[in-house]
Amino acid sequence: MATDTTSLKLEKIFTDAEDFLPLNGTDHVELFVGNAKQAAHFYKTAFGFQGVAYAGLETGMKDRTSYVLQQGKIRLVLTSPMSADGPINEHINKHGDGVKNVALWVDDAVKSFETTTGRGAEVAFEPKTIEDENGKVVISGIKTYGETVHVFVDRSEYDGPFMPGYRAWDSHYKPEDTGLKYIDHMVGNVGWGEMNKWVEFYAKVMGFAQLISFDDKDISTEYTALMSKVMTNGNGRIKFPINEPAEGKKKSQIEEYIDFYNGAGVQHIAVATDDIIKTVSAMKDRGVEFLYVPDNYYEDLLERVGDIDEDIAILREHGILVDRDEEGYLLQLFTKPVADRPTLFFEIIQRKGAQSFGKGNFKALFEAIEREQDNRGTL
Ligand SMILES: [Fe+2]
Repeated sequence: MATDTTSLKLEKIFTDAEDFLPLNGTDHVELFVGNAKQAAHFYKTAFGFQGVAYAGLETGMKDRTSYVLQQGKIRLVLTSPMSADGPINEHINKHGDGVKNVALWVDDAVKSFETTTGRGAEVAFEPKTIEDENGKVVISGIKTYGETVHVFVDRSEYDGPFMPGYRAWDSHYKPEDTGLKYIDHMVGNVGWGEMNKWVEFYAKVMGFAQLISFDDKDISTEYTALMSKVMTNGNGRIKFPINEPAEGKKKSQIEEYIDFYNGAGVQHIAVATDDIIKTVSAMKDRGVEFLYVPDNYYEDLLERVGDIDEDIAILREHGILVDRDEEGYLLQLFTKPVADRPTLFFEIIQRKGAQSFGKGNFKALFEAIEREQDNRGTL
């Protein structure tokens, strides 16, 4: 789809961030999945995404099939392989369904590539121009943690439904949206002792600033621990928290992820809504499973977070969590993993001033995750 780049004002909020890699936002997130057709149905039905574009045998794409879905500014691409071997198969075999490409919207994909590789990024693929009757898109790719890739996308001269090679997908089935607006942040899980390496990567290669840091004293329960640092670009549109496991009495949820994903990868995609109660109740009605929060979480909630606009009884009914920082508060809730392996999940977040990530909820949340791990025999 055509995006108006001329009206864009890129205001620098985080002054520690450097300016050499201007990023307009997330362009799309591509998942490699075992069955893109059925995954597309799931994200439409359960999450309220709409079909946008399709590529496959009918469009001349021989080796893969891709469905592009959109809700608000969030664009997902679901891709499955069409043959018995090749890199997509290998990715799925090793990782299960998961995020392959975190694509970033830029004004110049060649310059973005040259700048980041010049600063030490490994090449995923060289810049290339792809064209069709709707114009041209320039893309390039660099490697980040695990087998995840950042694709730089310049679509300023393109007016088609997604990219050359795709055609519009006007599906008869158009379930109502659930109020999801944009990607708030995307979290990467990396292995033992690797967090600082990737924090440095985002600082040095991409000019990001470090926003927050949590150590194992902030984020630990009786059993499990993790460490986390949040990296942001200058205008705050791209936020990448990086987690690594920490020693606890039992297995950290990050370690569980690393075991099942066979390495580092995207742990969760946080999507923003303006009305979390409406969004979460719609998603629940459509079959999305959320982490269960114990009732006692709500007993002293108002003491912890002060006055809030929402009715506590309704938050309790849906298991929605609340946290406050100096700037305001936020509401959030986490889905269970969206595929069979305990790896990728989604976070639904509504910010009411707060710019943080729900530190006050970590303990309640991790205890909820531990109950799930215990059920899986992986705690
Ligand atoms: Fe998050």
